[in-house]
Amino acid sequence: MFKVNDNFGRLQGSYLFSEIAHRVSEYTKANPDKEIIRLGIGDVTRPLAPAVLQAIDAATQEMADAKTFMGYGPEQGYEFLRAAIRENDYAARGVEIGTGEIFVSDGSKCDTGNIQELLAADCRIGVTDPVYPVYVDTNVMAGRSGEFDEGTAKFTDITYIPTTAENGFVPALPEGKVDVMYLCSPNNPTGTAMTKEELKVWVDWANETGALILFDGAYEHFITDENVPHSIYEIDGAKTCAIEFRSFSKTAGFTGTRCAYTIVPKELMGENSKGEKVSMNAMWLRRHTTKFNGVSYIVQRGAAAVYTAEGKKQVDETIAFYLENARIIREGLERIGITAYGGVNSPYVWLKTPNDMKSWDFFDKLLSEANVVGTPGSGFGSAGEGYFRLTAFNTRENTEKAIERLANLK
Ligand SMILES: Cc1ncc(COP(=O)(O)O)c(C=O)c1O
Repeated sequence: MFKVNDNFGRLQGSYLFSEIAHRVSEYTKANPDKEIIRLGIGDVTRPLAPAVLQAIDAATQEMADAKTFMGYGPEQGYEFLRAAIRENDYAARGVEIGTGEIFVSDGSKCDTGNIQELLAADCRIGVTDPVYPVYVDTNVMAGRSGEFDEGTAKFTDITYIPTTAENGFVPALPEGKVDVMYLCSPNNPTGTAMTKEELKVWVDWANETGALILFDGAYEHFITDENVPHSIYEIDGAKTCAIEFRSFSKTAGFTGTRCAYTIVPKELMGENSKGEKVSMNAMWLRRHTTKFNGVSYIVQRGAAAVYTAEGKKQVDETIAFYLENARIIREGLERIGITAYGGVNSPYVWLKTPNDMKSWDFFDKLLSEANVVGTPGSGFGSAGEGYFRLTAFNTRENTEKAIERLANLK
């Protein structure tokens, strides 16, 4: 019999969202007349911007004519989109990125998951705790995790760095050796963001120790604070130690349309087993062109429209709408005496459960007493215990109603 990859056997069940769905479904079965408000999902709800739709429509028409029809495109993405990314997301912020360093893809989930294929099997991985689970699970699949320890709820060969209220949700540098560190800012799930100074500490650490930073900026467009960098490359020295992931998903409502990009600087070098320097850009180019055939022309035209004058205005209005929801949630929680974090540079509000309730107990209380669904913090890692995530991706009416209901909680 053929053998399977044993590493998959170490994966922990994706218990979080299935357990939420199960508890909500049990509750609604028993209480069919109750109206549930869902502030648990990390998915956008507002439609694509009109400028994006117009570009998609026009590109679709091009596909209908043999003279303008497009077949396979460049695997890295069309020049028109990469040039728009370079100009608007980097040059406009004083960061020089070449189009040869931009790789367009169908999502940051795939890119943050696939990037570890470039790494040696014995690289030591570091993550923050709580964490976006993709970083951990893809390294488990690749055999870098060691065993799962039920007692600590952690993998033995992964370094977890807690980010909690005690350290202001800023990860401290690791004590032992870490070769590759995943950082996500603005963070999912904590909704907090690292300042330039805080990120500089990590960039300096990586350059000094020869580590790689995998920087996930999926929520970049929600940044409102001046001192929070939009790109890790705003920090001196980042091009020699960091790969950056960006996505149109949360920026422009592309969660169902699918478009993202990854920056792999040409200066970024790794080392092979012979001690020779190897270009990470060349490796990722080889990987991308071998395993990926490009994002559809139609979708790339839609993504490029995000950078037009109307596109920018429309996208910014949607982000402002979500940020206003986040403000309503955060301030509403504070008014009723619940400590809340995030929600300023992020669509996520991370709250401390009252009276140190367990995350899942708070979930049950919220569901049964307020008919509001959120996400238990412990589902993102053991340091998330005692926290809870609410999202701004709902209508204004539901957001306000949810906060009113929370105010009536006993
Ligand atoms: C931190 C983080 N990175 C990446 C993604 C995935 O983005 P995409 O839709 O581009 O795959 C998400 C989605 O929720 C996320 O929260």
